[in-house]
Amino acid sequence: MEATLREWLSLLLRWIHVIAGIMWIGDSLLFMWIDSHLSPDPQGRKDVAGVTWLIHGGGYYHLEKRLLVPGRLPPRLRWFWLEATGTWLSGFLLLILIYYMSADAYLIDRSVRSVTAGQAIAVGLGMIVGGWLLYDGLWRTSLRDRPLVLLPVSLALLAAAGYLATHVLSARAAFLHIGAMLGTIMAANVWVHILPPQYRMVQAARAGREIDYSLGAHAKTRSTHNTYMTFPVIFLMISQHFPAVFVAQPGWLVLWLFFVLGAGARHLMLVGVRAGRTTAAVTAAALVILVYLTARPVLSARNVSPVAYGPAPPFAQVRALLVERCAVCHSETPVMPGFIAPPLNVKMDTPQQIRALVGRIRVRAVEQQTMPPGNITHITDEERELLRRWIDAGAPLK
Ligand code: HEC
Repeated sequence: MEATLREWLSLLLRWIHVIAGIMWIGDSLLFMWIDSHLSPDPQGRKDVAGVTWLIHGGGYYHLEKRLLVPGRLPPRLRWFWLEATGTWLSGFLLLILIYYMSADAYLIDRSVRSVTAGQAIAVGLGMIVGGWLLYDGLWRTSLRDRPLVLLPVSLALLAAAGYLATHVLSARAAFLHIGAMLGTIMAANVWVHILPPQYRMVQAARAGREIDYSLGAHAKTRSTHNTYMTFPVIFLMISQHFPAVFVAQPGWLVLWLFFVLGAGARHLMLVGVRAGRTTAAVTAAALVILVYLTARPVLSARNVSPVAYGPAPPFAQVRALLVERCAVCHSETPVMPGFIAPPLNVKMDTPQQIRALVGRIRVRAVEQQTMPPGNITHITDEERELLRRWIDAGAPLK
């Protein structure tokens, strides 16, 4: 696909994805919040489950949560399906456009595992589909009403998925795929467990038949699961722009801890501390482990050898290296297929440009080793070491 078109398409999809996601998550958190802030109906009406007053945008709102009553449907009922569907579809297209169409740069990291693009895509899609089948299968069993049993099992499976992803895909793709897997579980919950039972209840009410309220309770459970996944999914999506996060070791544990933190934050926000002491305790423990992990120097650096003094390598050698391994993308006129402009406008065409970048070159190419992406230009360990020696010697331009 033409590079310019791809870039515009990527921007357009991302825009849609973020907007749809904000609407989906915003709606779902708002309804959860309303549910936990309803008061009994002062008039004691039987078909009113609770009432609340809200003020927003200069308006004063009186909300009533109603039970569906056979034969008494409102003339218009607003359904919420477009937000979830739009978020998932735009996200899936982005996954294809960025990760699957540039698999060598973003999906695969040969220092993690030597796989072909086809194999890596199969693993990625397998995780997304398999994650849903496992989660759904588990929460359909007779244990579904015993979250204290199924929750630890689900968390263990999540850790296993994180382990698999971080041992097959590039670190960045691993984080994204766990996010995509959780996002798919959320969207599939809407399509399979929330919309159809709602539809059956509305059909029954319309036909004047008796309504099976357990359908609504089931939809609510899955919708509650969804809200626990929202914060972790948002974290995983923004982590894409922070290499220090996805190269942190061990990756699967970082992923898992952030899931627990995000879900714990949602719990505190909507349920509070008293009702969930166990969660509060687990979240606090997770926080401690996280702080520990973050403090470990290994988080930001991969075996950078201790400073070795000696003559700095000549600049001509460093420059030739940067031209070959980096400037194919980082140039006013990139030659790497798919690049029409230097990424983030980072250019290495002149000695001055290179000089101004040394701090970031050290971080990305020597410490994190997240550049070149997926080591697409095959930089060697010796070359990384050469860059380090040159930078540590003051990056002389001669
Ligand atoms: C395949 C193209 C490609 C190659 C080759 C490449 N980069 Fe990048 N670089 C990118 C992209 C895309 C981004 C923006 C995304 C990101 O930051 O991960 C980027 C961003 C950067 C940034 C700016 C972000 C920051 O963290 O400061 C630096 C610095 C950088 N690269 C250094 C390098 C170095 C050094 C090399 C060679 C050893 C290199 N790049 C090779 C594509 C490339």
